[in-house]
Amino acid sequence: MIRVGIAGIGFMGMIHYLAYQKLKGVKVAALCEQDRKRLEGDWRAIKGNFGPAGTMMDLSGIDTYENLDEMLASDKLDMFDICLPPAAHAQVAIAALKRGKHVFSEKPIALTPADGDRMLKAARAADKQLMIGQVLPFFPEYAFAVQAVRGGKYGKLLGGHFKRVISDPLWLKDFYDPHKVGGPMLDLHVHDAHFIRLLCGMPRAVFSSGRMRGEVAEYFASQFLFDDPSLVVSVESGVIHQQGRGFCAGFEIHLERATLLYDFAVIGGQAETPMPLTVLSADGKVTRPTMKSADPIDSFAAELSEALKTVRSGKPSTLLDGQLARDAVVLCQKQTASIQKGRLVTV
Ligand SMILES: NC(=O)c1ccc[n+]([C@@H]2O[C@H](COP(=O)([O-])OP(=O)(O)OC[C@H]3O[C@@H](n4cnc5c(N)ncnc54)[C@H](O)[C@@H]3O)[C@@H](O)[C@H]2O)c1
Repeated sequence: MIRVGIAGIGFMGMIHYLAYQKLKGVKVAALCEQDRKRLEGDWRAIKGNFGPAGTMMDLSGIDTYENLDEMLASDKLDMFDICLPPAAHAQVAIAALKRGKHVFSEKPIALTPADGDRMLKAARAADKQLMIGQVLPFFPEYAFAVQAVRGGKYGKLLGGHFKRVISDPLWLKDFYDPHKVGGPMLDLHVHDAHFIRLLCGMPRAVFSSGRMRGEVAEYFASQFLFDDPSLVVSVESGVIHQQGRGFCAGFEIHLERATLLYDFAVIGGQAETPMPLTVLSADGKVTRPTMKSADPIDSFAAELSEALKTVRSGKPSTLLDGQLARDAVVLCQKQTASIQKGRLVTV
């Protein structure tokens, strides 16, 4: 039995807690949260842009802590699951690794690549797993794309276009603070930056244009340039100011012998899939492979199941790899620099 302590019971802490209930061989043994009401099980004020609404929870049998140092000192835990705001990831992860715990942390790994490097160094020194919850490859459509590229069935990857746009998340007060969350680039686009890094390798340069909001990029379009000039990759991401566009994400991925299409949106509060995962093949065939569950909690359960497998086997997971997550933060930083400088930036 792997005993997990979740740090931070906000939107993600709740989603992780619910996802663990679907898994075997793991127990959420402790929770740490500074908000007393949440610590006592009143999760009704928790808000996010997908998944179920927070309810009253029965947390009996779970150790609860208001203070992170107290949960860090517990000798009953095997793994720390960090669902705190990004600014806290590095410090808490390093402290947990030093105490001999495995660490699973929500994305982004940290606000800066330097902090990501410190986390990676601490994991090596402690000989413990550092896993970063870049969840996209665990969503069925994105998992299909990873498999299509890795399996080679459709030939070489030629690139693609990735999109992730939301309306202003007015309930997140620190969203645009570069020292707390990092804005749409680090909080939202980092998903696609990581996915592109995973599928295509590390770009040699980026070019972005976009609108800034203070020190952070608000809405932008980017091109990623690779050593292989036939790899053509672009993204569109950020915040627009129409609340009806709750969320949208999707891709068009080009391979030599197939194109993969996918589009998902929340419009006026309603989830829609204007383009379910679709495979266009070279001979003109159009197929719609059946996807696994559309419940996002299942995607987080798949991600956490990979984390537990990693802890049990001691074999690092390529999908949860800290180095890749750190590279995604490098890309985000370079994209912001490109917007600010109005030119191509080498990576
Ligand atoms: N994978 C995804 O799709 C996804 C979606 C949303 C958020 N996230 C990530 O999850 C992380 C958390 O985001 P969120 O939306 O859940 O934030 P949130 O603000 O809803 O929750 C954070 C919680 O941490 C608590 N907290 C903060 N500092 C604390 C401290 N020192 N001690 C104890 N508790 C403390 C807060 O009170 C709050 O309840 C971020 O890194 C974010 O980028 C990932």
